[in-house]
Amino acid sequence: MSPQPQAAVGAPLSRVDGQLKVTGKAQYAADFDPEGVVHAVVVDSTIALGRITGIDTRAALAQPGVLTVISHLNAPTLEYRDNPGGYNPPGRRLRAFQDDRILFHGQPVAVVVATTLEVAQHAADLVEVEYDSRQPTTDMSGSPAGGEPLNYARGDAEAALDSAAVRMEATYRLARNHHNAMEPHATVARWDGDRLTVWDKTQWVQGARNELAAVFGIPQNSVRVISPFVGGAFGNASRVWPQTTIAAVAARETGRPVKLALTREQLYFHVGYRPTYEYQVRVGSDGRGRVTAMIHDLRSETSRYETHGEPILTLGQMLYNTPNVRMTHRSVPLDVNTPTWMRGPGYATASYAVESAMDELAYEVGVDPIELRLRNEPEEDPSDGLPFSTRRLRECLATGAREFGWNRRNPRPRSTRDGDLLIGMGMAAGAYHTRRDPAEASVRLDADGTALVQSAASDMGPGTYTSMTQVAADALGLTMRNVTFRLGDSLMPPAPLQGGSKTMASVGSAVQDGCDKLRQQAIKLAVEDEGSPLYGADPDDVVVRGGRLHVKDNPARGETYRQLLARNNRTRLEANGSYTPGEEVERFSTHAYAATFAEVAVDARLGLVRVRRMLGVYDAGRIVSPKLADSQALGAMVGGIGTALLEHTVTDHRDGRIVNANLADYLVPVNADVPDLRAIYLEGEDTEADPLGVKGLGEIVQVGVAPAVANAVFHATGRRIRELPITAEALL
Ligand code: MOS
Repeated sequence: MSPQPQAAVGAPLSRVDGQLKVTGKAQYAADFDPEGVVHAVVVDSTIALGRITGIDTRAALAQPGVLTVISHLNAPTLEYRDNPGGYNPPGRRLRAFQDDRILFHGQPVAVVVATTLEVAQHAADLVEVEYDSRQPTTDMSGSPAGGEPLNYARGDAEAALDSAAVRMEATYRLARNHHNAMEPHATVARWDGDRLTVWDKTQWVQGARNELAAVFGIPQNSVRVISPFVGGAFGNASRVWPQTTIAAVAARETGRPVKLALTREQLYFHVGYRPTYEYQVRVGSDGRGRVTAMIHDLRSETSRYETHGEPILTLGQMLYNTPNVRMTHRSVPLDVNTPTWMRGPGYATASYAVESAMDELAYEVGVDPIELRLRNEPEEDPSDGLPFSTRRLRECLATGAREFGWNRRNPRPRSTRDGDLLIGMGMAAGAYHTRRDPAEASVRLDADGTALVQSAASDMGPGTYTSMTQVAADALGLTMRNVTFRLGDSLMPPAPLQGGSKTMASVGSAVQDGCDKLRQQAIKLAVEDEGSPLYGADPDDVVVRGGRLHVKDNPARGETYRQLLARNNRTRLEANGSYTPGEEVERFSTHAYAATFAEVAVDARLGLVRVRRMLGVYDAGRIVSPKLADSQALGAMVGGIGTALLEHTVTDHRDGRIVNANLADYLVPVNADVPDLRAIYLEGEDTEADPLGVKGLGEIVQVGVAPAVANAVFHATGRRIRELPITAEALL
C-alpha cells in the first residue's frame, strides 16, 4: 500500500483538550456528581505501629447529616483475592478496615460518610480512636534488610577491582520523594445492584477494574472504571490505593454514591512514593578511564507488608561496557506505607549513583566526563549480548556538547566565577528500556466524514488525546478536527497501564493499525464500486488526504469518504486495531537514551544553588508530537531540579510521622527555580521498536537530570555532596 502522507504526526500541535482544561470543563474524578452523591472523609492513624483498642463514634454519629462511620469494627469482610497481572508488589496488600493492626502513621482507620463534605470533615474530627502503641522503626540507616537480596553478576568484579589501576568508592543517598501531582487522588463510587461504577484517578482503568473485582470478589465485568482526565500522576496512580476501596465500601454500606477526595496531607501516606536509597558504588578502571569493574550495593526502604520493586539494577548493567559487574539490592522493611514507582522508576534513581560515580572517576583519571563515557560505550547490550535496535547516545553527547557550549568549560573544579557566584557545568547520560504491551483500539468513520477512535488508555498529562488523534488523522487521511479520540473507560478496547513510557508504542500502534484497516476497507469499497471514480484502480495506489480518497499520482481521480459512504448507503465503516509486541522484543535491546547538561551558579556563602540553564538531548525514536514532547522533557528537568536540590519527604523517626506533608514544607521548584530549559530530539525513528518507530519519552527525560545538576555543583564548588537533595546546609 502507498504510505499515507504525514500531516499531523511530527507537527508541533497544541493539545486537542487544551481548551477543556483551561476552561475547567475537563472532568477529573472529583468533578463527577452522580445523583444523590454523599461525601466521605477518612480518619487516619495517629500512631505508626500497634493496635486499635477502641473507636468511639458516638459524637460523630450524632452530627446531623452523618450517615455512618465505618471501621474494622463494622466493615464488611472483603475478599482481597489474588489479582494476577495486576501491579501489586509481593507481599500482602493493605486491607481496608479488615483488622485492628496499625502498620504505618496515617493508615486509614475509619471513614465518615455524610450528606455534605463539611459535616463529614467535622464528624471525622470527632471520631475518637484509642491505640496500644509501639515504637516504630522508620529510619533505614541502621535497620536490617529483610528477605532475599536481588543479585546480578557478570565476570569477576571483585578480582577485577582488586587488580584495577584506579579504584574509587562512594555511597550516594537519595531522600524519599513524593509525586505531588496537581490533582489529589479522588474516587466517586456507585453501586447499581451488584455492579460497581467508579470514577477514579488512575493511570490504568482496566487495571483498577481488575483490582476492585479482586478486592470485592466479583466478576471483572461487574466493575466499570471511568477516568477521562488525570491531573498529573508520575506513577502514583498506577495502583489502586485504599481510598478507592474505601469509597466503594462506603457506597455499598450507605446505598448512596460516595465521593472521597484525599487531602494534600493524606497523599503522603495513602499513596506510595519514590523510596529512600543508599547506593554504594565501587569502580575499578585503567589509567585512561576504561571501567573494568563495577560493584553496586544498594539498600532501599519498603513497608512491612509489601516489598516494593522497581528496575533499579538495569541501568548499571547496560549503560556502559563494563566486563565485570556485581550488584546486590536489599530491601529494608520499615513501619511505613509501601513505596511505588515515580517517574523513570529505578533508572532515575540509579542514574544519580552511576552518573555521579562516572563524574568522580573522570576527575580521578583526568579525562573529560563526556570523553570518559565514550570510552565505555558498548557495541552491543553488555547485559544480554543483544544488538541494539538503535543506540545513539554518542550522538546525544556530541550534540549536547556542541549546543551547550561544553568546550567553554574550564575542566578544573571551582575555576569559574561570575562576581561572587561559582559557576559550574555538569552532565549525565541516561537510558530507559522501551516497554511495549498488547493494546487494541476501535475505529468508526461516520457518514459525515468524521471518525471516532477509542481505547481504554489514560492521559495523565503527556497529551495522549492529542498524539493519538495525530496518529489516527494521518492513517485515516483526515484533518485533526475531524477525528475524536476517547480514552479512560474500562469498557473501551484493552489498553495497558499508562506507565513505563509505553502508551505511544502500544496504544499508538493499535490506533494506527485500526485506522489503516479502516482506510483500506474504504479504498476497497471504492475500487470495487462501479459508481466510484476510483473503480478499477489498484488499491495500493490510493491514498487518502483531507477526507478524500485519490490515486496517489493523479489527485484529480478520487472522491470523499462522504461521497463514498452516501452512494453505498453506509452510515458508517468500522474497524478494530490491535498491537502485540513481537519477537523484536527478544531480538533487540531497545532503549531510549538521553544526555542531560546543566549549568549552576552557587553562592558559596549562602550555600544556595541556582540552576541557570539545562539542555537535554534525546534519542527516543520518532517524535509524534514535538510540542507535547517539550512538555515532557522540560517538565522532567523541573522534576529533576526538585530531586537534586529541593525535594525531601521528612519523617520524624521518633513517632514515624511525616512532618512536611504539605506543599509549603515539601519544597518543589517554583518559577524562580526554573531557568532556561531546552530539549533536542535526534531525528529519525527506530524501525525495530514498534510500528510507529517510537522508543518512549516520558521516563527517559527524567533519567540523568539530578546527576547532571549534582555534577555541575561539584564542578562549580569542588565539593562533592553525595546526598540528595543538595541543601544549603550541606554546602556550607
Ligand atoms: Mo511511570 S513511574 O511508569 O507512571
